[in-house]
Amino acid sequence: MRTAFVGKGGSGKSTLTALFINYLKKQEKQFLAVDADINQHLAELIDAEFKEELAVSKKENSKKVREYVKGDNPRIEDEANVVKSTPPGTGSNFVKLDRKNKILDDLATEYGDNWFMHVGTYEKEGIGASCYHTSLTSFENILSHLKLKEDEWLVSDMVAGTDAFANTLHAQFDLIVLVVEPTPEGIKVYEQYKELSQEAGVFENIAVVGNKVDCKHDREYLEENIDSEIIGYLPRKSEIKMARQQNNPVGLELLNSDEKQVFQKIAETTENRKVEPDERLEKLKEIHLKVSEKQHIKDACGDVKTQIDEGFSWSEV
Ligand SMILES: Nc1ncnc2c1ncn2[C@@H]1O[C@H](COP(=O)(O)OP(=O)(O)OP(=O)(O)O)[C@@H](O)[C@H]1O
Ligand SMILES: [Mg+2]
Repeated sequence: MRTAFVGKGGSGKSTLTALFINYLKKQEKQFLAVDADINQHLAELIDAEFKEELAVSKKENSKKVREYVKGDNPRIEDEANVVKSTPPGTGSNFVKLDRKNKILDDLATEYGDNWFMHVGTYEKEGIGASCYHTSLTSFENILSHLKLKEDEWLVSDMVAGTDAFANTLHAQFDLIVLVVEPTPEGIKVYEQYKELSQEAGVFENIAVVGNKVDCKHDREYLEENIDSEIIGYLPRKSEIKMARQQNNPVGLELLNSDEKQVFQKIAETTENRKVEPDERLEKLKEIHLKVSEKQHIKDACGDVKTQIDEGFSWSEV
């Protein structure tokens, strides 16, 4: 199962991601937690070990990811030709939640029985010259080669705004939880997501959690302005604020029983929206065809269309 948290800056993405991770931990699920936000707050919110040098977007780490996913796939000439949308094929290596997996072993920190990984922030050499979504490329490579068992989870805290639509990320999850505050700015970001997700054919995979919803009027405001399923609401909690003021992580013990239900509901909704791996692959291939037409990709990597392996199915992995 794959769940991502997105939303406006400051809406509560990282807080909700952390609480959901805490929920999965209590359910004794196996998971990989990923901080894919440039602000890099998740580790402290879940009390995970943060090693700056493991950022998957770092030059040497992203090369490692490309080399690994390429494996012996004969359709890919060189690791440098692995682009953000390169689909898995026969000969590819896969990322599995397994202590022996090279990518987890090299680039994730152990988090109890689970794993934590972070994408990283702008590299100094990128200042003024790159945009954050290029940093997400190696995370996209990991996601498109990720093989989860039935009961395993990938949870990701995502960058603010609508960057996910500039790449393959919108097609990589079963559920994208859009965290929305009951403000006009919050609704505006929801509307942008709605439009982009409809265009990308993933509107069905979006649901909303209302955050900092303090009264009946706040709820009504969200209900009036949101067409997607609203999974639940969290109020502004002084317990969360105090935990953070004391530099403590956030966990479900800060919530009452009704509020905790929101996280069970997020898990159930993810299960209900599950995308079959081969269906996800079809979408990735569609995106890859578009990417292959871009002149800068042709210039750098030649014809990457030939990377598509029509004979490959996830059922063989
Ligand atoms: N339900 C809540 N009750 C109280 N405080 C909250 C709640 N949700 C979030 N906060 C606080 O609001 C601030 C922003 O939350 P958070 O960092 O989770 O948002 P974000 O969307 O991840 O922000 P960014 O865009 O900066 O990554 C934090 O100080 C957090 O502790
Ligand atoms: Mg955040």
